[in-house]
This record gives sequence, C-alpha cells and structure tokens, in this order.
Amino acid sequence: MGMRKGRILVTGGCGYIGSHTIVDLIDNGYEVVAVDNLSNADESALAGVAKITGRQVRNHVIDLAEREPTLRLFREEQLTGVIHFAALKAVGESVQQPLRYFYNNINSLLNVMAGMAETGVNNLIFSSSCSVYGNTTDLPVTETTPRQAAESPYARTKQMGEDILQDYCRVHPAFKTVLLRYFNPAGAHPSSLIGEASANPASNLVPVITETAMGKRSEMTVFGDTYATRDGSCIRDYIHVMDLAHAHTLALDFLLANRQQSNCELFNLGIGEGVSVLEAIRAFEQVTGQRLNYRIGPARPGDVEAIYANYDKAAAELGWQPTYDITDIMRSAWAWQQVR
Ligand code: NAD
Ligand code: WQD
Repeated sequence: MGMRKGRILVTGGCGYIGSHTIVDLIDNGYEVVAVDNLSNADESALAGVAKITGRQVRNHVIDLAEREPTLRLFREEQLTGVIHFAALKAVGESVQQPLRYFYNNINSLLNVMAGMAETGVNNLIFSSSCSVYGNTTDLPVTETTPRQAAESPYARTKQMGEDILQDYCRVHPAFKTVLLRYFNPAGAHPSSLIGEASANPASNLVPVITETAMGKRSEMTVFGDTYATRDGSCIRDYIHVMDLAHAHTLALDFLLANRQQSNCELFNLGIGEGVSVLEAIRAFEQVTGQRLNYRIGPARPGDVEAIYANYDKAAAELGWQPTYDITDIMRSAWAWQQVR
C-alpha cells in the first residue's frame, strides 16, 4: 500500500451517498474520517464499508449544527479536504418543519466552513441538488439554466448553501469548492453490503418500488399519469449511487490538482436521460421477474413534470461518465432490499 492521497472528512458518512462515496475514495487512494450524528443512519454502513474495502473508518458522533464540537473535530484531525453530505433531506418533512431544516442544514454548513477556515483546510465538495432548479421547463438542465424559486424549505437550504459558498469564495481566493447538483440517486453497491437505509420511512420512488415488491407495503401509487410526457407519468434522471460516488472522488482530484477555473465550480450529476415512473416500474419488473402491485393515483403536489440533466461539463472537466442505467439501479436496489 503506497502513500494515500490525502485525508478527507466525510460528513454524513454513515448515510446513503456518504457511505458509497467512502468506498470509492478508499478504492482510489484516499484516507477517510467520518462524522455523523446518526440522526438518519447508524454505524452499520461503516461495517459494510470495512467488509468491502478492508478498512475500518472512524466515525465522530457529533452534531455539526453545534459549533464547539465541530471546531474541536477540525482541530483534532489533519485534513486535506471535506465532503459535506450531512443534511436533512426529506422534502415533505421540510414543509412541515421548516425551522428544523434551516437550523440543521445551514448551521452545519457554517460550522464546517468555520472549522475549515480556522484550520486552513481549503478543499470542499458540497452536496447540492437538482431541486435548486425548481420548476424549470428548460430541458435538459445545464449548470447555467437559471434556478427557479425553491419548491420546499429543503430545496431552499440547498440554494442558500450554494449562495453562502459563492459569497465566501469571492472574498477567499485560496478557498476552493465544488458544488455538485445530484439528480435522482438510486441503487446500491453491487456487493449488497451497503445501500439506502434511512431511519426515516422511504418516500423516493426506487425504495418504494422495492419495499412494495418485498411485501413491506401492500401496494404503491404512481403519482399522476396525465402529465404532458410520453406515457403521462413524471420524468426524472435516475443516477446510480456508484456513479455518483465516483464523481466525488473525481471532484476532489480536480481540486487537489488545481484544475478548476474558478474557486467555486458547479456540476450537474445525472445520466442525461429521462426515465418515466411507468418505465422505471417496467424496468424493475423486467430485471426481477416480480410483478409490482401499483395503482395510478393523483399527482403529488409540488412535483415537477419532467427534469433531467445535461452533464457535459462534468464529462469535460472531471472526466466523469455514468456507467450504469435504470436496469442496473433496479437490480442492485432489489438485491440490497432482500438482505437489509
Ligand atoms: P442520508 O440521510 O442517508 O445521509 C445524510 C447523513 O447526514 C445521515 O446519515 C445523517 O445522520 C447525517 N446528518 C444529518 N444532519 C447532521 C448533523 N447536523 N450532524 C451530523 N450528521 C448529520 O442522505 P443522502 O441521501 O446520503 O444525502 C446526502 C446529501 O446529498 C444530503 O446533503 C442530501 O441533501 C443530498 N442529496 C440527496 C439526494 C437524494 O435523493 N438522496 C438528492 C440530492 C441531494
Ligand atoms: C421520483 C418520481 C414521483 C414515489 C426528490 C427531491 C429532490 C432530490 C431527489 C434531494 C416522481 C414518482 C415517487 C411514489 C411515485 N432529493 N413517485 N410514487 O421528487 O424527483 O426528487 O429526491 O435533493 O430534491 O425532491 O424523487 O423519488 O420522490 O420521485 O409515482 O410512491 O417518482 O412523482 O415523479 P423527486 P422521488
């Protein structure tokens, strides 16, 4: 084993995207330290990471919305960079509990930035979301497509996070950040040792599908079939979590090699193809041979009719390419559902 490329703090490292990213970072020569307050996860994901990579990652159980413990963590660890995943992410819950979402997501970011400033750590990757585009009709979405009003407090925390980092970068030229706007992450590691395991009940399409097929739900609802799309159901850009994880490693490589043109870079991460809800269901049925018990219901308030990414910028500047499609997503999500 040669020299590692640097030591990275992964916030939200016990969560869904964080745990998959840790695997990719270790596989690509980074050393990782995690911090997670276990509000939506437990440390079993890190046991899965250890089985996959042969490395046990240490987790600090700290609430990043608290300033002092967060600063202490930065003083203790000698870090090369930070990937900031930690956030609350349930869109519907954020509508009901806006202050909790603003408190958690904004304070966590501010405290991480303060810790970085105090200890001279200058490389940050931030988890943003396609939800910052709001109800856009400009498809496919590029990084320069204007953001529309946020459809939820959750989405607003992501817009605010982007704005905070942009303002900070303007006056701190040594600080470098990459904002990654994820489209719809889904699927699991091919080993089925890690996957999506929220403490909160699932509301995203792919886990709802696999839980219905497992019998954990008696049926599922397709939210609307009268949209102006090819089959009437909503269109999204489902990106495999392994492809998404690798983009974080590439974004770090990019910052550490100083290949950025600005100290605040922005990338869409989607596969560039729209898949409808009914197509996703069909893909699941084909891959698994299961028949899914679904019915057509009313549209879900706040849903965008169709959104998918243009990822040319990530391809050109990060050298990133998606390698998995919706069938791979369904196969791995189903395998994970059966063992979790
Ligand atoms: P997740 O809930 O699985 O992971 C987030 C982790 O952060 C959890 O383990 C949680 O316990 C931890 N956390 C939350 N608040 C914290 C705090 N104050 N201090 C310490 N730890 C805290 O979610 P995920 O799907 O892995 O999402 C990771 C990031 O990506 C989030 O910022 C999310 O908003 C963003 N994102 C997710 C999606 C998606 O659909 N999954 C899409 C776009 C963007
Ligand atoms: C996908 C499609 C539903 C469940 C959310 C956030 C977004 C980002 C990704 C964090 C939609 C349909 C779903 C069901 C259904 N997260 N659906 N029946 O809403 O595109 O995006 O997650 O940043 O910000 O808003 O994802 O998985 O909930 O829905 O028909 O039981 O599946 O209507 O068209 P969404 P989703």
